[in-house]
Amino acid sequence: MHVVESTAHLSKADAYRELQSQLSALLVGERDGLANCANMSALLYEALPDLNWAGFYFLRGRELVLGAFQGRVACVRIAVGRGVCGTAAERRETVIVEDVDAFPGHIACDSASRSEIVVPLIHQGRLLGVLDLDSPRVARFDQEDSRGLGALVDVLLQGSDLDRLAG
Ligand code: SME
Repeated sequence: MHVVESTAHLSKADAYRELQSQLSALLVGERDGLANCANMSALLYEALPDLNWAGFYFLRGRELVLGAFQGRVACVRIAVGRGVCGTAAERRETVIVEDVDAFPGHIACDSASRSEIVVPLIHQGRLLGVLDLDSPRVARFDQEDSRGLGALVDVLLQGSDLDRLAG
């Protein structure tokens, strides 16, 4: 059984290093995309402080469709270009929103959310979906989160067969 170690006492850089080794350990011997995304969302939700949602959307045509997540029930379909998720998908780059009330078009799934980060999943040049984290704290996410989550997404992409989840 895997025990998730809290990272609350660590600096952000150390927390992400710790999470990388925890995620790598979780994925050993398992390439199933759905299972690995489900476990990664649970790991992030439990280990990172001040989150109220952590999960995935996968690209289906011109829409993002809800995948594995932790947190409150969420909107199922988001058009590419809409909301924070659709913006990150369209730009193919990480988007950090310090205050969701100041982001035009933000899609409110949980009214507790105050800030958000969305990291695109790009494998061999193909956009597969996004990783989305929400926080009840304004300006919860910064460039260190962007770097750390980008590295975690790389571990996921290398260690999982995600292609079939997008289409
Ligand atoms: N806030 C997101 C929608 C997804 S939920 O936060 C889980 C957005 O604006 O794209």
